[in-house]
Amino acid sequence: MQSPPPPPPPISSFTPKVAILGAGIIGLATAFELAVKRGVPVTLYDPAPMGRGASWAAAGMLAPAYEAAAEEGVHPHLFELCMEGAELWPDFSIDLAHAADTDSGYSGRPSLALAFDKPETAAIHKLARALDARGIAHEELPPATAHLLEPSIAPDLIAALQMPTDGQVDNRAVVRALIMALQRSPLATLRSEAAPLRSEGGRLTLEGHDLILAAGGWNTAAIKVEENGQPLSLVNWDPALDQIDCYGGQMLSVAHGYGSPETTLRCGPIYIAPKADRVIIGATVEPGVATETPEPEAITALHARAARLCPVLEDLPVIETWAGIRPGTPDRAPMIGATAAPNLFVAAGHYRNGILLAPITARIIADLMLCKPLSPLHESFSPSRLCAAA
Ligand code: GLY
Repeated sequence: MQSPPPPPPPISSFTPKVAILGAGIIGLATAFELAVKRGVPVTLYDPAPMGRGASWAAAGMLAPAYEAAAEEGVHPHLFELCMEGAELWPDFSIDLAHAADTDSGYSGRPSLALAFDKPETAAIHKLARALDARGIAHEELPPATAHLLEPSIAPDLIAALQMPTDGQVDNRAVVRALIMALQRSPLATLRSEAAPLRSEGGRLTLEGHDLILAAGGWNTAAIKVEENGQPLSLVNWDPALDQIDCYGGQMLSVAHGYGSPETTLRCGPIYIAPKADRVIIGATVEPGVATETPEPEAITALHARAARLCPVLEDLPVIETWAGIRPGTPDRAPMIGATAAPNLFVAAGHYRNGILLAPITARIIADLMLCKPLSPLHESFSPSRLCAAA
């Protein structure tokens, strides 16, 4: 493939120099948006291996319908943001493929929600009503039709809902592609170290950068700042950062085999996400749990529940088991926006939607940093909403 086109000229006469703290998918996607798409110089700092953590542990679900439409007690506009995020993914994956010369496994193939008993059927009907109320396309399929689309589904299926909004991507391929694209960009610098963040008279400084984005996932509040030789943390600059909590998630992957599923399948908390080289089975959601060590009993239970949906999975060899840490806020929505400190922005707390919301988060942060007006929808995810609620 020919070399990527030069970055576009900056859109305003003042081009800020941006530092990003945290190279998970949110930090990487924002660096990509700024450096590759908008011509803004960026330095990305992370002492941990780039693109690992929650971004690596994820399953790449792009699931506004199943994971946000029928959720209760969440941010009132989370579903709209998730839909906007899902709509950006096809173009985002094409731009990324051009910039990195590699594919990230985006698939718009609709997911299926499945039911094998009355409570699961009631859950599907509740989701269908929530999607109807929002005018979002979906289709209840007779079991025979669902079996034609996905022959690996167990024969005792009683109801199925097709969700054209819910696709998937290979999250590990995405972070690898983002790193590659940034390594190729003359405007991006990747630093495998903690940022030497300092405070001078209360103002944050970082090696001559004008603007700083905190994108450290569940660790964002604890990012270190030195003031007069004293160690402080970023939470001292905005108490909203303290509202990010941990939600552990355990998962496994199995090898493909004859007749293994090709469609993303969901039933209750279980999902089956076929990738090119493995089938991911997830996931637990464990509030307050911050371990990256999976428990054999939890993994066995997930595998057994997935095999109830797709019996072929039972005998397929397990490739990997793992546990990740989702960062979540009290309203399960990310904080995206300016903080109480004048040159500090935050993009963190994406809970179950980090992969889905990476492109839209990157766009919102780039718009803010380049002084473009935000829509009321985007403004509603400002971290200040969480200070008011605290
Ligand atoms: N979005 C997938 C998960 O949170 O497990």
